[in-house]
Amino acid sequence: MTNEQYHTFIQPYSDAKEILCARLNVLAHNLYGKTAAHPVHNIQHRIKQKESIENKLIKKGKEPTVINAKDYLQDIAGIRVICYFTKDIYSLTEILKFQSDLIIIRECDYVASPKPNGYRSYHIIVGVPVYCMDGMEYFPVEIQFRTMSMDFWASMEHRILYKTKRDDREQIAAELKGYANTLMEIEKQFAKYTGE
Ligand code: GTP
Ligand code: MG
Repeated sequence: MTNEQYHTFIQPYSDAKEILCARLNVLAHNLYGKTAAHPVHNIQHRIKQKESIENKLIKKGKEPTVINAKDYLQDIAGIRVICYFTKDIYSLTEILKFQSDLIIIRECDYVASPKPNGYRSYHIIVGVPVYCMDGMEYFPVEIQFRTMSMDFWASMEHRILYKTKRDDREQIAAELKGYANTLMEIEKQFAKYTGE
């Protein structure tokens, strides 16, 4: 795909991401008023780079075209909501699912069922209605809800191991899995002080 094709293609994904970010911010403020506790530490977002889109399509055995990107990729727009505690993740996702104009395309609860390597995060792919001059179309946005401790682990694991090859991989993976459990325990200890 050309640079021009890429920029035209990602525009509605970027719009969908902005719409969803605004809604997540509203939820964060609303919850803040009700419980007097900040559920969200910070929100990050990104649009997948042209090279990442092309590489992912090639890995899936598809031609790196915009049509295939639209048909086969659902994480072109991505939002990461970093919460304080695990319960915040469930409050936010539950309320978000009540917004009836959004469609839930896919949901994966790696908090309740962590990946074998210890990865924890709540993934949800949401179809966001984007209205333009031609009408309305749903565009997918992947949201990853994590606590700070889950994000700390995932960022480190991504840096050290994810999608890389090294000889001592198994040894390190076993150690990282142990740290994932330790971090979960530490988060639970902090949760005790919130009195909830
Ligand atoms: P991708 O092809 O990587 O998008 O995976 P997938 O389509 O099977 O979806 P999945 O929900 O498993 O993962 C989506 C995203 O979650 C990844 O792109 C990463 O950002 C994150 N993720 C998933 N598994 C791991 C993991 O083991 N470690 C880390 N650090 N991040 C992960
Ligand atoms: Mg992905």
